[in-house]
Amino acid sequence: MAIANEDLINAATEAREQAYSKYSGYSVGAAIIDDQGRMHVGCNVENAAYPLGSCAEAGAIAAMVQEGGRRIDRLAVVGGRDDIAPCTPCGGCRQRIHEFADENTVIIVKDDSNDWQEYSIEELLPASFHLD
Ligand code: THU
Repeated sequence: MAIANEDLINAATEAREQAYSKYSGYSVGAAIIDDQGRMHVGCNVENAAYPLGSCAEAGAIAAMVQEGGRRIDRLAVVGGRDDIAPCTPCGGCRQRIHEFADENTVIIVKDDSNDWQEYSIEELLPASFHLD
């Protein structure tokens, strides 16, 4: 593991600081380590036309694909509020992650507390839809 989980989480936390979340006030950052050991980050980007907003995971995945990455080795998602659970990926993002994940992909979820949780894509999206 060339990049430590702590460093991946720190990158997602920094990406979160760039979130454009003026409508929900809910900021999220994501950081991916791809199959070549490279890091890609994203944040949520909202829009006055609400459905056009995009999730942090979508931004990080788009950045990975644009750089030629085709597999997520590890993904950290940092977000959440005190009164609700940490930001586990939304349903749509579970499907987005699934497209580039396998059984070894680790999905880390962290809020503002000091600990984090780790999931596999099978845990987050059982009985998934796929075409291959
Ligand atoms: N959001 C993410 O960025 N990732 C998720 O997995 C869940 C939700 C964003 C979308 C929206 O900008 C804000 O969080 C509140 O839903």
